[in-house]
Amino acid sequence: MKADVYFAAAEVDPQSLAEKAVVVIDVLRATTTIVEALACGARSILPTTSAEEAVRLAASLGREDTLLCGERKGAQIEGFDLGNSPDEFTSERVMGKRLVMTTTNGTVAFSRAHEAERILACAFTNLGAVADAVRREETLVVLCAGRQGRFSLEDAVCAGHLLLRLGAGPEGEVELNDAGRAVVALAEAITPNPAFLANTDGGTALADIGLEGDLEACGQLDRHEIVPEIRDQALTVKEG
Ligand code: MLT
Repeated sequence: MKADVYFAAAEVDPQSLAEKAVVVIDVLRATTTIVEALACGARSILPTTSAEEAVRLAASLGREDTLLCGERKGAQIEGFDLGNSPDEFTSERVMGKRLVMTTTNGTVAFSRAHEAERILACAFTNLGAVADAVRREETLVVLCAGRQGRFSLEDAVCAGHLLLRLGAGPEGEVELNDAGRAVVALAEAITPNPAFLANTDGGTALADIGLEGDLEACGQLDRHEIVPEIRDQALTVKEG
């Protein structure tokens, strides 16, 4: 397998992703929340890049079974049903619902990947399931959402652990770019857990707005066996 890693969504040329499989990672918190919502029975999640687009889309789909979700500066957007904390997305709230979601970095990364053949959502919570889902790809792109167009440690470490699960490493058979070599080295040195997340810029920013409790859910490894993948512009999980 050949795997190219990008530290931030803004680094990638969307046209270069055509016909490729792209794994999008935003540990804090968009992809963790997406995994949690689908694990709790949400029907589908439509990522959008702006709050205005989200509101328009939700209205056109019918608000009775559509929830508006997302954040700006980490906080729930005014008038939205849910924010971006994984623990808000309980089965009581999301079972059978369609979610329209907009976040600062994560949903923007999905939009950047729109030319790709496959687009999957990965977090620590579904790492093993995603590794199994892409194991047979000849070419893989791992797109870290990053923060405000820049590197974020938790996304890089998650990318590295994904590549380790795929066999990357000194004796490994995964052909990497330099960013890929760097994230594998980070993953060899760092064990993902909530304490590690607390010591990142993203973790500190969440603590600053009182959301440090979210790190517990975001730091769980392999909590779910599900692979959210874009089909007809919405993230869904395959039945059965
Ligand atoms: C994002 O997409 O920018 C993040 O999920 C931000 C957040 O932690 O809410």
